[in-house]
Amino acid sequence: MADTTGNKDAKNFGIGVPVETEGYFLKGSCHYDWGMQDRLSRIFNPKSGKTVMLAFDHGYFMGPTSGLERMDLSVVPLAPYADVLMCTRGALRTSIPPTSNKPVCLRCSGGISILKELSNEEVAVAIDDVIRLNCSAMAVQVHIGAEFETQTVNNMFKLIDAGMRHGIPTLGVTAVGKDMARDARYLGLATRIIAEMGAQFVKTYYCAEKFEEVTAGCPIPIVIAGGKKIPELDALTMAYNAIDQGASGVDMGRNIFQADNPIAMLKAVRSVVHEGNKPKDALDLYNTLKSES
Ligand code: R5P
Repeated sequence: MADTTGNKDAKNFGIGVPVETEGYFLKGSCHYDWGMQDRLSRIFNPKSGKTVMLAFDHGYFMGPTSGLERMDLSVVPLAPYADVLMCTRGALRTSIPPTSNKPVCLRCSGGISILKELSNEEVAVAIDDVIRLNCSAMAVQVHIGAEFETQTVNNMFKLIDAGMRHGIPTLGVTAVGKDMARDARYLGLATRIIAEMGAQFVKTYYCAEKFEEVTAGCPIPIVIAGGKKIPELDALTMAYNAIDQGASGVDMGRNIFQADNPIAMLKAVRSVVHEGNKPKDALDLYNTLKSES
């Protein structure tokens, strides 16, 4: 029953104390609604402005990739050290306990395999399922310059429109075909198109020359993929350079789960991305953690 009498008088109105109108920490994201900003704050750490996403969606077109043969054994122990899990809904439901309590960036395009044309993708998940799985973002492959370029941009439109209705960010992933150069000209073109079409953040590759022009020319946050497994120092150096040149994080897979000690590598990458650790110091950390385990 409502208490209509005997209530304390309301008097703490803070007269004279202006209401704070705080900005939003993330590039290009200050005009979104609360739900969208809340989800982006789960992906990007509001203190550092950065993210370390763990990508293990490779099976959606590559099958049982080395290091991901048993995701229950290889990925689950890594989850506590990642900011975000990026995977398919099949991986999530079969292999990742809901008690992991990590934000998920769900792979939402598919329909291809390494046996055929890689750009021939479709939207592969309905928004209802993205919501049912409580995902914090959706990922879609965009093949600029490839045979099915327009189809993949259309896939992105559909997901962005659905995401805007429900406050769920879309990650546009620049898929670089084997005939294309991973240089600043191509990556700048692809990331800018993805941003202008309305994605909330974009994943691309690092390039040794003019990467700062790629990040400067892209009005939304960029996270970099790791690519094929390379020596630990090289991967840490790549992460360092990318962040130093304007990236907002990494979405790394093989260089973490194919490392000799994946947990140590993930921690070393975190130290670079969130704390600005230098590559050699991060390698020392990796080796120390490895020797202790
Ligand atoms: C590729 O399209 C997949 O989405 C992977 O998530 C991506 O390549 C990142 O993984 P890696 O660091 O192994 O390249």
